[in-house]
Amino acid sequence: MVQAWYMDESQEDQRAPHRQQPNRAVSLEQLRRLGVVYRRLDADNYETDPCLKEIRRAENYSWMDIVTIHKDKLPNYEEKIKTFYEEHLHLDDEIRYILDGSGYFDVRDKDDKWIRISMEKGDMITLPAGIYHRFTLDENVCCCRLP
Ligand code: LAC
Ligand code: NI
Repeated sequence: MVQAWYMDESQEDQRAPHRQQPNRAVSLEQLRRLGVVYRRLDADNYETDPCLKEIRRAENYSWMDIVTIHKDKLPNYEEKIKTFYEEHLHLDDEIRYILDGSGYFDVRDKDDKWIRISMEKGDMITLPAGIYHRFTLDENVCCCRLP
């Protein structure tokens, strides 16, 4: 099950969980109210998965590419890691599906407070156009593959 929570104010180590004490969990329903949609899919079979096919058909996700976020596999790794974590928005929805590894998507709520969404293999998220967000790997040392 995906987990989300309000972040603390610390600016240290972006890969740390940054939960508040006590934890302030954010539900899928709260995320949905911000337009953020979460789904769980079968990442081992993404090439043939009928669910993924159906989502792409129904929501018109015609384009896809796969990014491996690992220092030996991603050109300009350090720079990219920095860019991913800079707060930004897009004019289109951002759809990300974790094929392997794990990381955090942070989104701002209506009061500009950061919510951290913990994503791992098999998790798909849609961030609506115009929502401020950023991405970071978490403390797991492996890597993260996103289509
Ligand atoms: C992107 C994510 C990292 O724009 O927000 O690809
Ligand atoms: Ni983005």
